[in-house]
Amino acid sequence: MNSNSSASNVSSDVRFVSVEKKFGAATALHSLDLDIERGTLFALLGPSGCGKTTTLRLIAGFEQPTKGHVYIRGKDVTGVPPYRRSFGMVFQNFALFPHLSVAENVAFGLQMRGVGKDEIGKKVAAVLDLVALGKFAERYPRQLSGGQQQRVALARAVVFEPDVLLLDEPLSALDKMLREQMQVEIRQLQRRLGMTTVFVTHDQEEALTMSDRVAVMNHGRIQQAGAPKEIYDRPRTEFVATFLGASNILQGQVRGRDGDDAVVDLAGNLVPVPGIAAADGLVRFALRPEKITLNPESNVRASVKDVIYRGAQTFLYLDMNGMALNAVLQNAGAEPVAVDAGASVGLSWDKASMIALEEPA
Ligand SMILES: Nc1ncnc2c1ncn2[C@@H]1O[C@H](COP(=O)(O)OP(=O)(O)O)[C@@H](O)[C@H]1O
Ligand SMILES: [Mg+2]
Repeated sequence: MNSNSSASNVSSDVRFVSVEKKFGAATALHSLDLDIERGTLFALLGPSGCGKTTTLRLIAGFEQPTKGHVYIRGKDVTGVPPYRRSFGMVFQNFALFPHLSVAENVAFGLQMRGVGKDEIGKKVAAVLDLVALGKFAERYPRQLSGGQQQRVALARAVVFEPDVLLLDEPLSALDKMLREQMQVEIRQLQRRLGMTTVFVTHDQEEALTMSDRVAVMNHGRIQQAGAPKEIYDRPRTEFVATFLGASNILQGQVRGRDGDDAVVDLAGNLVPVPGIAAADGLVRFALRPEKITLNPESNVRASVKDVIYRGAQTFLYLDMNGMALNAVLQNAGAEPVAVDAGASVGLSWDKASMIALEEPA
């Protein structure tokens, strides 16, 4: 039994407690807390250099924390080297052994672990079926497409049933169509195996498509973690609101109260905003472009600066008394939305779509 009570959560497969990682004087991670439940697909999402790979390497044991503790399956593994941890890993450049067949590539890790020949045969066949490559067992990597090679890399990472599967931007070398297909395939594979998976990406759509939970990182900190829908619908900071999807970040002056709502002066329009306790002062909030609709009856007016037709949607660039605002309208009707640059339009939105923002930590 581990005496540290913070590790006693048995349903948590990966846990960081106040993990700090410095490289020389530079701090890559600031006191990171992380809790990844067993069986979930957890995405680490953030811009280049925010500390995603470092987090993954700390789980694998390729890096050790400067401070704090890493737990896997409730066991403190801080200081434990990679070969004593149980993880499978796929990188962006998932180098397969070119001189080994698909089956041999997948068998390699099992041979290293001293698994018997018969069992290796069975496991390799089973996992290749799982990734729909049963018929390709005798081929060599150069005889496979990029997507097939990627599936071999996945098969190789999961064949020995590791505690955790670590994926570091595994799809970023693939073209868009293949990447979207592989996102769904990895998701399905992960569901079937029920394997705790930590997935690193800088692509917000990929994170939304694939994961059960997302942690949005910036400058070595997790700004917000939660279900994709929660992060998208209730971002707490400007960074999260703009990194995950597009947002209008608006600032207004609180003029008073209307029941539970603050009444905010937004570029000369008085609008109700829920979730703000203050009766005065400046407030900042996010409003997603797709939450804005055109309403000729509305007193909230804006002039149309630009109209961009994008097929399924039409993007409007608006000016509301000097405040820039973007709207995205769905082209749900038989004809696309008819608005011209220079027009004056009325705008509406559900007040619950206005999300008050905190300043980042
Ligand atoms: N081995 C290292 N030595 C020095 N600095 C490093 C090392 N690895 C990462 N860093 C720094 O730590 C920060 C986070 O890097 P990384 O985890 O690779 O970010 P990401 O994967 O999100 O792009 C960056 O500023 C990077 O330059
Ligand atoms: Mg990285």
